[in-house]
Amino acid sequence: MDLKCIFSLAILVSQISLSSTQNVNVVIQGATSIGETDDNFVCATLDWWPTEKCNYNQCPWGKAGLLNLDLKKKGLINAIKAFNPLRIKVGGSLQDQVVYGVGGVKNCPNFMKNEDSLFGFSQGCLPMERWDELNKIFNQTGVKVTFGLNALLGRNRSQIEKGLWVGDWKSQNARDFMKYTISKGYKVDSYEFGNQLSGAGMSASVEAEQYGKDIVVLKNLVKELHPDPKTQPKVLGPSGYYDEKWFNSFLEVSGHDVVDGVTHHIYNLGPGDDPNMITKIQDPSYLNQVARTYKGVLNIVNKFKPQSGAWVSESGGALHGGAKDLSPTFADGFWYLDQLGMASTYNHKVFCRQTLIGGNYALLNTTTSIPNPDYYGALLWHRLMGSTVLAVTQESNPNLRVYAHCAKKKVSQPGISTIFINLSKDSSFNVTLSNYEHQSRNSRSTDVAKPEFRGSKDREEYHLAALAGNIQGQIVLLNDVPMVPTETFDIPTMEPKLVNASMPISIAAHSIVYVTIRDFQAPACA
Ligand SMILES: *[C@@H]1O[C@H](CO)[C@@H](O)[C@H](O)[C@H]1NC(C)=O
Ligand SMILES: *[C@@H]1O[C@H](CO)[C@@H](O)[C@H](O)[C@H]1NC(C)=O
Ligand SMILES: *[C@@H]1O[C@H](CO)[C@@H](O)[C@H](O)[C@H]1NC(C)=O
Ligand SMILES: *[C@@H]1O[C@H](CO)[C@@H](O)[C@H](O)[C@H]1NC(C)=O
Ligand SMILES: *[C@@H]1O[C@H](CO)[C@@H](O)[C@H](O)[C@H]1NC(C)=O
Ligand SMILES: *[C@@H]1O[C@H](CO)[C@@H](O)[C@H](O)[C@H]1NC(C)=O
Repeated sequence: MDLKCIFSLAILVSQISLSSTQNVNVVIQGATSIGETDDNFVCATLDWWPTEKCNYNQCPWGKAGLLNLDLKKKGLINAIKAFNPLRIKVGGSLQDQVVYGVGGVKNCPNFMKNEDSLFGFSQGCLPMERWDELNKIFNQTGVKVTFGLNALLGRNRSQIEKGLWVGDWKSQNARDFMKYTISKGYKVDSYEFGNQLSGAGMSASVEAEQYGKDIVVLKNLVKELHPDPKTQPKVLGPSGYYDEKWFNSFLEVSGHDVVDGVTHHIYNLGPGDDPNMITKIQDPSYLNQVARTYKGVLNIVNKFKPQSGAWVSESGGALHGGAKDLSPTFADGFWYLDQLGMASTYNHKVFCRQTLIGGNYALLNTTTSIPNPDYYGALLWHRLMGSTVLAVTQESNPNLRVYAHCAKKKVSQPGISTIFINLSKDSSFNVTLSNYEHQSRNSRSTDVAKPEFRGSKDREEYHLAALAGNIQGQIVLLNDVPMVPTETFDIPTMEPKLVNASMPISIAAHSIVYVTIRDFQAPACA
């Protein structure tokens, strides 16, 4: 690689306050990419929880579970369609208690409360009529489907070790389900094996060696039923918290070309009733802690080289349905959009938000289907941030979080898209751009300042802020316009503000800003 060819862009952020002016240097390396996401990086989940699922003295699922969600709601349909396409992961805690009502399964009951059963619910069943209805909306809205399979079928609780499930996975029900799915022409992008059974598990766990053997069985089944490699669903796993030892053994046992994508879960905000969450979510050092997990998974992926890399297949931020006064508010974007940035920086391909609808952490309000602030942040990410990830360094001010990708849509020039998160709760920032050029790998980018970057084309800017500055409110403003669905339940248009290149990028306190700069010459984006 020609090191002289490394161009970078620096953004000088000057914070002017009464007492002092703070300069923040942001360097964007335009020459090389550090990661490549899937085109459908932004993903959301649909979960199985019934109405009776409660945590913290509330029951936030309503009728948003997979078995009782109203699939005809215009708000829901339009919210999915706006992504064109959205990736959806069907799964969740109860997935390892779902049987499919096909083949030998004649009795197909719903989940029932049962204290002795995993997660307090009995086994439930997905009737094929319901699978038909789900596929109707998936087809109508162009969804890319990941389906989480029951990985406990055929196993029994260990007599010796609490929480451990032993015995081989029985694949017959999955086979019948796949055959039915194929016979109907439904498209499944990927099958994920089990949910939270890796490592210590959530309520149940399976040993890594056993799991590795079983996912080979699943892979062979998928290959047998989908002989055409072009339409063969991917096989993903293990879909639990990252545990180095467990993940290593699992991938060693399964061997090459079996697990297409290594999937894991992120709940780094902890319990949904934590009264300190609003502080944690604004604390850069707290947010940074999870980088260890991403780094660990990236190491594993670099070692085993699965074709579809690393995915976050479930992340709600806060556990057990989310945080009532935070997850559905503007402030959650400080966590969520930062996670999208961090995950792509660590070369993750997909990030599935728990949930699309259902619980307090949903992108859409569980009862009204009206988008919460994170929905709009996610949609902008999907529309603006391309798959090529650029390195950003910024050491002066930890309160400023910046991520840069090549722009998604190449208009006349490729350009870059950047997201700035937060800054200060009481100061605005004026950002000026500067060019940097490395002469060698070792020279610190900040040492070689070049004159200010002067674009000549208008920038496309999307400023997200909380209505009336209430970051725990549910209304987000885009360029000062409140985002609410139209009377026909359509997602409002989300146009950028065009800003003359001679103006500094201006970022208000407690705001999240996407900027597309078309005339920034990033060789990695050409
Ligand atoms: C929807 O179904 C039709 C008919 O089976 C099929 O031709 C089309 O490709 C499907 N569209 C999507 C997005 O899955
Ligand atoms: C699990 O338990 C059932 C019922 O007791 C028994 O028939 C089956 O053989 C057991 N399977 C394993 C793998 O131990
Ligand atoms: C969903 O919307 C209703 C009606 O506006 C509201 O009362 C409720 O708090 C919202 N739910 C969540 C989780 O934000
Ligand atoms: C946002 O800015 C405030 C004020 O500078 C700071 O205390 C907070 O940590 C920042 N939050 C994030 C997520 O960077
Ligand atoms: C920030 O930029 C705006 C627009 O150019 C300008 O009016 C304002 O004076 C600048 N503020 C500071 C503190 O430099
Ligand atoms: C941008 O601002 C510069 C300097 O004020 C001005 O000369 C130029 O005409 C403006 N460009 C556009 C497209 O308005």
